[in-house]
Amino acid sequence: MKFDLCIPTDIRFGTGQIASLDTLIPPAARVLLLYGGGSIFKNGIHQQVRTALGDRAVTEFGGIEPNPAYETLQQASVTARSAGVDLVLGVGGGSVIDAAKFLSVMIGSGDDDPWDRFIDGYDQVSPVPNGAVLTLPATGSESNPVSVISNKTRQLKLPFASQSARPAFAIMDPSSMLSLSTRQLQNGVVDSFTHVLEQYLTTRVNAPVQYGFSEAILEVLIDWGPKLVEDRSLDACENVMWAANQALNGLIGAGVPQDWSTHMIGHAITALHGLDHARTLTMIMPSLMRYKLEDKLAMLARFGRRVWKIDGTDDRAVAEEAIRRTEVFMSDMSCPVRISEALNDFDPDALIRHLEAARQTSLGENADIGPNQVRAILKIAA
Ligand code: NZQ
Ligand code: ZN
Repeated sequence: MKFDLCIPTDIRFGTGQIASLDTLIPPAARVLLLYGGGSIFKNGIHQQVRTALGDRAVTEFGGIEPNPAYETLQQASVTARSAGVDLVLGVGGGSVIDAAKFLSVMIGSGDDDPWDRFIDGYDQVSPVPNGAVLTLPATGSESNPVSVISNKTRQLKLPFASQSARPAFAIMDPSSMLSLSTRQLQNGVVDSFTHVLEQYLTTRVNAPVQYGFSEAILEVLIDWGPKLVEDRSLDACENVMWAANQALNGLIGAGVPQDWSTHMIGHAITALHGLDHARTLTMIMPSLMRYKLEDKLAMLARFGRRVWKIDGTDDRAVAEEAIRRTEVFMSDMSCPVRISEALNDFDPDALIRHLEAARQTSLGENADIGPNQVRAILKIAA
């Protein structure tokens, strides 16, 4: 398939790289340092960032929540404009970095309540530059164009994408992962695993480079995910951090059909129940693969043979075994593979209403997953 690909983020990977903020940010920049609930104070990253920023003009805004709220960003936007900020620096996980990117577009729009405008024209606004210091590998947000933002008032969680909102730079210091909880490490592994699958398990096209690269990332996550959780060695931190970045920076998705239906259903579950992003994915994806087995058969069989090393000539049997092993991997990462493992008040009607309000009624690589198909998937996933 024809594609455009431009990944301009200047990546600085490795222990000690936070110091390079000094060379990445102009001395006269007026910086908004955006952060979350305070983990950066406990693990020393705030101090490292402030040291690297030296005597630049810095305004701090904290309190970005996991699954960042639009309403919080409206407050941040007022702070940023009154301080004349010309660069937004997100220091944290995917939530803070998504928030920093969205905020940089919001500041560029000059509007503190642009939600309705952004629904149709987010990518038409010129953002002020933003940069990322990543502390949790999972989303790939640090070098991709997407921000997933929750509007609490409307109970909606939506993705916004703009190529010009990609971070100008991303600092990825694997040693910053040492303070993460086991649950956050597990979430990161399965989130990035699912990102690869949503770009890889679709209709087969002529894309052996993308498929081979996807398989390498999946194998690294299968090998190193459990080791990371077990011993948090620097080797494991490095490998998972880089795999999670490469899983969703645009490369493996270029020129191939993509299926983000598990993500859109997962975002709705988080909006309705507040559950961690990664865990909403694992409770849906295996059932979605079973429901779409025929359409995805060629790639599921390839996934089974190449990634899970399953023998056999019967594509269907290999595909079914590949889904089963994926489920075991997700369970080993302590994530639910059925809705009822994590939620006891789940209402499919409410989820369908979220998808309709989000205009997500023709999902999947063939745009053939609408409300009825989602209902059938939810029944298998129950
Ligand atoms: O807020 P703080 O105090 O920093 O604590 C966070 C938060 O409580 C903590 N944490 C982060 N780094 C830490 C740390 N704790 C100790 N040590 C560290 N080094 O971890 C908690 C979760 O952080 P969060 O940023 O919410 O997690 P994640 O990176 O998984 O991001 C999830 C968000 O990203 C969106 C999700 O929907 C969700 O809103 N996504 C963004 C995507 C994108 N931009 O492309 C794609 C993804 O599919 C996803 O939808
Ligand atoms: Zn995700």
